[in-house]
Amino acid sequence: MRSSYEKLLATIALLSAVTDVSAQTNSTTVGSGPSAAGPTWEQTDYDSSPPVYPSPNATGQGWQAAFQQASNFVSQLTLEEKAQLVTGAPGPCVGNIGPIYRLGFDGLCLQDGPLAIREATYASVFPAGLTVAASFDRDLARTRGVDMAQEFKGKGAHVALGPVAGPLGRSGYGGRGWEGFSPDPFLTGELFAETIEGMQSAGIQACAKHYIGNEQETQRNPSVTKAGETIEAVSSNVDDRTMHELYLWPFQNAVKSGVASVMCSYNRINGSYGCQNSKTLNGLLKDELGFQGYVMSDWEATHSGYPAADAGLDMDMPGGIGFVTQLPTYFGPNITAAVNNGTLAEDRLDDMCRRIMSPYFLLQQNSASYPRVDASSSGLNFFPEANYAFNYTLGPANVDVRDDHAQAIRELGAAGTVLLKNLNNTLPLKTPSNIGIFGNDAGEPTDGLYFDGDGDLGNVGFEFGVLPSGGGSGTGRFTYVVSPLEAIKNKVNSYNPKALVQYVLNNTLVNQASGYSILAPVPPEVCIVFLKTWATEGYDRPSLLVDWNGTALVETVAKSCPNTVVVTHSGGLNVMPFADNPNVTAILAAHYPGEQVGNSLVDLLWGDVNPSGKLPYTIAYNESDYSFAPIENSTALLTTTDPNAWQSNFEERLLIDYRHFDYFDEPVQYEFGYGLSYTTFSMSNLAVTATGSGYTALPAKQAIAPGGNPALWDVLYTATVTVSNTGSVAGAAVPQLYLGLPQPVNEDYTPVKVLRGFEKITLQPGASQTVTFSLTRRDISYWDRYTQQWTIGTSAIGVMAGYSSREIWLNTTVTPLSGSSGSGSGYGSGSASMAPPGYSNKTSSAGMSMPASMSSGMSTVVSGSMIPASATVPASYMSGSSSMMASMSATTTVPAAYSATTAASPSGHGPGAPGCSDVPGPWQHAGNNNWGHGGPPTQSGWA
Ligand code: NOJ
Repeated sequence: MRSSYEKLLATIALLSAVTDVSAQTNSTTVGSGPSAAGPTWEQTDYDSSPPVYPSPNATGQGWQAAFQQASNFVSQLTLEEKAQLVTGAPGPCVGNIGPIYRLGFDGLCLQDGPLAIREATYASVFPAGLTVAASFDRDLARTRGVDMAQEFKGKGAHVALGPVAGPLGRSGYGGRGWEGFSPDPFLTGELFAETIEGMQSAGIQACAKHYIGNEQETQRNPSVTKAGETIEAVSSNVDDRTMHELYLWPFQNAVKSGVASVMCSYNRINGSYGCQNSKTLNGLLKDELGFQGYVMSDWEATHSGYPAADAGLDMDMPGGIGFVTQLPTYFGPNITAAVNNGTLAEDRLDDMCRRIMSPYFLLQQNSASYPRVDASSSGLNFFPEANYAFNYTLGPANVDVRDDHAQAIRELGAAGTVLLKNLNNTLPLKTPSNIGIFGNDAGEPTDGLYFDGDGDLGNVGFEFGVLPSGGGSGTGRFTYVVSPLEAIKNKVNSYNPKALVQYVLNNTLVNQASGYSILAPVPPEVCIVFLKTWATEGYDRPSLLVDWNGTALVETVAKSCPNTVVVTHSGGLNVMPFADNPNVTAILAAHYPGEQVGNSLVDLLWGDVNPSGKLPYTIAYNESDYSFAPIENSTALLTTTDPNAWQSNFEERLLIDYRHFDYFDEPVQYEFGYGLSYTTFSMSNLAVTATGSGYTALPAKQAIAPGGNPALWDVLYTATVTVSNTGSVAGAAVPQLYLGLPQPVNEDYTPVKVLRGFEKITLQPGASQTVTFSLTRRDISYWDRYTQQWTIGTSAIGVMAGYSSREIWLNTTVTPLSGSSGSGSGYGSGSASMAPPGYSNKTSSAGMSMPASMSSGMSTVVSGSMIPASATVPASYMSGSSSMMASMSATTTVPAAYSATTAASPSGHGPGAPGCSDVPGPWQHAGNNNWGHGGPPTQSGWA
């Protein structure tokens, strides 16, 4: 007989399965693992996630005054009010915390999402995170954050559920990669932080999501077999070094930026659910990174009550296990009961409340003038008004919050579009008087302006109309979309009202060849083919090709039209079999640009804006080239009866995207960081200067602050280069700085190069500018799982400056530690040579040939001490329960499991507590394992 808990889980899973699994049968398993031998993957190393208890108390570091206000507020709450404050409830927003009017608290309104206030009328829809990443533009990222936040605030929201850095983008097939930024953690980290700081500067709490390892949609939640057996969510199995250097990296930036909240993810991480994984929540986020805000669960990602709270979860969303109802809930009255019977320490509950209230006071959301929730939100959200548990005080309905944001949206849409090919200066267009437009992505969306992606659409997407955004909770409710066809017609009309803009928007028709013959006269002076790729929450992409036979569409048009320009609107990378077709004269990857999609594009096509977007990912030649980091899926998995069958092993470790292609020296079509301009740029004078001396391998031990050990953020070097516009028009360049970090002994593959600096600067023709990159201690270190420290390697570090990951103009080395041999490759290891692969056969982003010789700049070598010669892994420090799932009743009474817990672990803390999902295992042994086990996590700074 199944326990009541299992039945509840089954209910949740059923809900999840509707969106997560049922349509997965169309998907195929992609790839089979790393393409070259590496450290052996010992599955048992990844079965478990070490317990880290107790949950560190926030101290308010960085926002002391607000913390004091929060503490005062919490001290006035009854136990029931505290439980209410940590538990979502039905209401007018995507997530709601009920009001406590006697203390002047109107509650919290949480709204999706990362590119717009989703469920709102009269709001703007901004470019997706992917577009921001392709812009490589810190200022535009921040402006977008400010503008979005103004709209959230104008609608009475307190928390914006974004930005996204999980998924990071391990697999291009991931359905939600476009919500985030780039598979490069540095690029993501910088733009994540800009967005957060921009949002919070405008008075809105940001929510960094989805923490962590949320790299696939397939089986992101538990499902239930026909026989009623619960199959657990996919487990993202990640080693400790990869966790730090890739997936945690941007979240560290977010914490450093003072992000208010973090959303824990649906998936398991090394066997333990994201919202009750004490290692990732208590250990990494709150202890190591010093996070002072609160962790909220993704919607229905909570799987228990007090065990989740003890593992570091601070707020349960949406609250009700049944989603739209207030009860039953894992939190709410169960939290009250757990405190009353001594299972959950009230101290932990107080910490949860203080964490939730500190950002509220910090951003002065208690102000009497703070806008109330727009009354129109009610009708748009999940919860029937009949289910509301509180009497919410709403503001006026249908407030128009768009302001003049359309202009910035248009600008960013263009800035995040990448010009991949431009033969014979096809672009910018002059004044063509006969233009052919092809493809189902060119016109008006015929199915309306809300791309929610639910229901039958699955991973198929909308057939007719331009795709300005992806689907799911990360979409927006558009008030209008400027289609490419509309914008092109307007543009052409402005210079020649009698010019022809001919079009066929039905891909099937064009592919039958009868479509093109509708046009006359032919060929048009230029044919523009619009392609798209749907990506949405709940599904992974079935292919890396464009949708709707778009590849064939290009070939068909190009056969007849020798001047074919291709434009893609895609939620991630596309392989482009047509890229080398000589009749395809130009290609623009326009990503998801938001409501001004057509105008952003026309600005580029006619040269009113000079393209400056760069690829935030790599376009390889074939889909199979990406098999090193597969989405976990198979027919066998879809029919499994093994609850623990879904295991996604991140065996490629650090080698995702360009790190893989560079390490294995594989040719690619268009590399990370690449993008053309209508002008040309040169680069000279690379100089690297140490800001200090006597550097040590390890950072000085300092009290943890938000962002981790403050010493990690010390700038140890600055690098400068001179960038010159050598062409005839103004344009923006994106100089990029890569490091080749040394390969530590007995460690996993170290990438050949990693991005550690970028800037976007606009230059007039003939103008030059010096660009400075700051290199922090973290930037030049690797994560040592033995010592649990960011550590500077013992040999030379290669410093490479250029215009893409494979267009390096200048290089040099620095050797931070004295006594180092300096004999390291300086470019990592593996097949790399001193000259990074692909260097010699690439043309510059400006279409120029590479200079015959690279001038190398000054190298400043400073002295310091060596890393200890050997480090051993300390013995295990804990043991405990092997129970994987929490045992918790859905009812509001205290289940028997509580009293059992009391006996085992009176405080409810520690690994002995039944229901703790962390499973101590063989992680402490010294093989190629994970999670670095240098001893018990310290509570330094957190007492
Ligand atoms: C689930 C999504 O994963 C998350 O990103 C979103 O914020 C919530 N649903 C609420 O819509």
